[in-house]
Parts: sequence; structure tokens; C-alpha cells
Amino acid sequence: MTIESSSEPQSFQKFEHDGWESVSAGYEQHFTRLTLQAVQATLDAAKIEHGMRVLDVCTGPGMLAAAAVERGARVVALDFSTNVIAIARQNVPGAEFREGDAQALPFKENSFDAVVCGFGIIHVPNPALALAEIRRVLQPGAHAAVSVWQAPNPTNGFGLLYGAIKAHGNLDVPLPRGPDFFQFSDEEKLTRAMQEKDFRETKIRTVEQTWELDDALGVLNGIMEGAVRARGLLQAQTEAAYRAISEAVRAGMSPYATSDGSYRVPMPALVGAGRK
Ligand SMILES: C[S@@+](CC[C@H](N)C(=O)[O-])C[C@H]1O[C@@H](n2cnc3c(N)ncnc32)[C@H](O)[C@@H]1O
Repeated sequence: MTIESSSEPQSFQKFEHDGWESVSAGYEQHFTRLTLQAVQATLDAAKIEHGMRVLDVCTGPGMLAAAAVERGARVVALDFSTNVIAIARQNVPGAEFREGDAQALPFKENSFDAVVCGFGIIHVPNPALALAEIRRVLQPGAHAAVSVWQAPNPTNGFGLLYGAIKAHGNLDVPLPRGPDFFQFSDEEKLTRAMQEKDFRETKIRTVEQTWELDDALGVLNGIMEGAVRARGLLQAQTEAAYRAISEAVRAGMSPYATSDGSYRVPMPALVGAGRK
């Protein structure tokens, strides 16, 4: 496997950066309760324990950092968005924060006893570089763990969303070209990517996350208020296509309805771990 990178890295990085600056609060509101479900599995995979020096790359609102602090680790958390870091600082007073790029970590090699990156490598123009940076700053023998979304399929939320866009809209809209968002999204692909970047003893685990939503348009609203790439894709649809996509998503939510009128949408994650 060759890890795909963006063919226009500067404009893609700007698109991502502008996006995260503007959806920082929306991500916390909609996605935290979801990605929180992979936190303990990620910390376990990176073998995080009391007293370790830990780096959380692409920290977002800081859920991994917070849980690592709770385990008694000394945590540094990094993100490239000023607004995101402001939120994370409030959430995790016990961690140290750095603004910076996952592709050029501002740390010396061998600085950390563990590194985690939750749903981050899928947002950088050059994920191979981000993985290499994670490995560079790890102590020899120490573990890193990264999480990504499972590929869209008929039984998960991304399958519902992308299926509706494919059927009623356009998946090939003029946005800055990023790498394939789902290039690491099955066990084999994530294993191969980590091995390609020289991680050994790789292990992948699927974590069954569930998005609990109050209404049938919760997936779309969450994406429009809290995501970057999928939001860009939806914003680029024509009005008529967006309406048809909304209707298809609403109709496709029925298998996930509960007796109290809310919805439980499967949004599984893969957690990949490896050792330096
Ligand atoms: C999907 S959120 C993940 C947040 C959190 N780790 C979680 O597990 O929910 C991705 C985060 O990565 C950050 N990010 C994206 N590209 C980055 C880059 N090149 N360098 C550093 N942070 C980046 C964004 O600002 C955002 O906060």
C-alpha cells in the first residue's frame, strides 16, 4: 500500500484549518459524545499508565488528553486550531497545550512514552508524514495508537450519508483535494499503513461507537455543524440535491429508531496500535 496524500497540500491544509476554526464548538457539541467511546480503547492500545509522558496529536476538545491525565500521565496535547485549543484548555486544565501541525511535531525525537491521535490522520494532507512524526517522537519500544472511522457500509452512519449523496447528489465537487478519507478504514488497510511507517507488533481493534440522536436529521445536522470534509461536500451540493439527500437520510434512519423516538446510529471506529 502507498499511503495517499493530497495533490494540493497547501489549499487542502487551509481548507481543513479554516474549517476546524469555524466548527470547533460544533464538533464538541455533536461528536464528543461519539468519539469519547473510543477513548479508553485508544489509551489501552497505547499502553498508557500512571507517570508516562504522553502526546495527544489532533487533540480536538481534549477527550484523550483528559482520560490520560486521569490515568496519572503527564500529557501534552497538540492541535493546529487556535479555537480548538482554547476549548481543550478549558476542558483539561491538567494538560499542557501546543498549537502546531501534526506533520511537523514541535518535539525532539524519543520525547514521549506513548502517543495517541484520535480521528486525526484522516485530516492531514500527508498522513504518512503524520505517522512518521508520531513514530519519531516516541521512545524506542513505546506504543502509538491512532483511530479512524470504519468505511461507509449499509449498517453505519457514514454509509447512510455517503449513500444518500451518491444517489441524490455529487461526490465529486470542487473542493481542495484531500487524501481518501477512508483509506485506513478497514483492519487490513490500517495495519498495512502502520507497518509501512515502521510500526511493529501492530494490532487493530474495531470499537462499536453509537451516535445517539434526538431526531432523524441528527446525522446531517451534526455534520453541518461539527465536521469539515463531509460538511464541505454537503455545502457544495445544489439546493435541490441537498433537499433530496436530507430526505434520503431521514428515510434511511428508520432502522435506527428507538421506542422513545430517538435514534441510535452505529458509527464504528478502528483503533490501530503499533510499537516503535
Ligand atoms: C476529528 S477531530 C478529532 C478530535 C479528537 N482527537 C477526537 O478523538 O474526537 C480532528 C482534530 O484534528 C485537528 N487537526 C486537523 N489537521 C491537523 C493538523 N495538520 N495538525 C494538527 N491538528 C490538526 C483539528 O483541528 C481537529 O481538532
